[in-house]
Amino acid sequence: MLAGASDVSTPVGRSLSGLRERLRDATSEAHRELDAQLSAFDLTGFSGYRRFLQASAAALLPLEAALVKAGVADIFPDWPERSRSAAIAADLGRLGSAVQSTISVPPLTRSGVLGTMYVLEGSRLGAKFLLKTVADSADHRVGEATSYLSHGEGKRLWQSFLTKLSSEASCDDDEAIDAARLAFAAFEQAADRA
Ligand code: HEM
Repeated sequence: MLAGASDVSTPVGRSLSGLRERLRDATSEAHRELDAQLSAFDLTGFSGYRRFLQASAAALLPLEAALVKAGVADIFPDWPERSRSAAIAADLGRLGSAVQSTISVPPLTRSGVLGTMYVLEGSRLGAKFLLKTVADSADHRVGEATSYLSHGEGKRLWQSFLTKLSSEASCDDDEAIDAARLAFAAFEQAADRA
């Protein structure tokens, strides 16, 4: 009875529906809310863009640190190409600012690494849209601080992430979903505070 069995788990905890679809369904509401929160920042203005970067960094840095601690490079050998902590810190530096207090995030399991990576890699898709807004800024300082939003452009990092995700045989889907929800919550918290 495979057809329509969208939420049935095998004994090893693997859902019969794709993990990516489950992650998307489980976080779509959080994505919508974050989207609405972020749209309140005026990305074309110096201070609005700086606040947006500060909020993003306050979540991104601790999440990336937790990934590193959990051995993300063992699962994604191209991790140095995916990490954006240095890029966002450099953007903030260009705007005369620095990363301020960060959100605290719990340690990650291997499945948690996959769920967190889903959120961070997915955020590149939104970044593409945001970059278009930033490009309309009349303030040249804003246009020159886009290492984070343009990071990985042309490298198909989202596609290669999805390939990796679908080939992961030993992932506890529920753990991955919990981690993805926590990652979205970290961005929401950071945006709330900004
Ligand atoms: C205002 C800001 C944002 C906008 C306008 C936006 C927009 C989008 C759009 C249009 C897609 C689908 C792109 C496609 O399928 O080609 C997408 C996907 C995604 N975004 Fe965002 N996004 C934003 C912020 C974020 C942030 C901050 C995160 C995470 C921290 C995020 C996480 C994701 C994820 C995980 C996906 C993949 C969903 C899937 O599995 O298909 N987004 N976003």
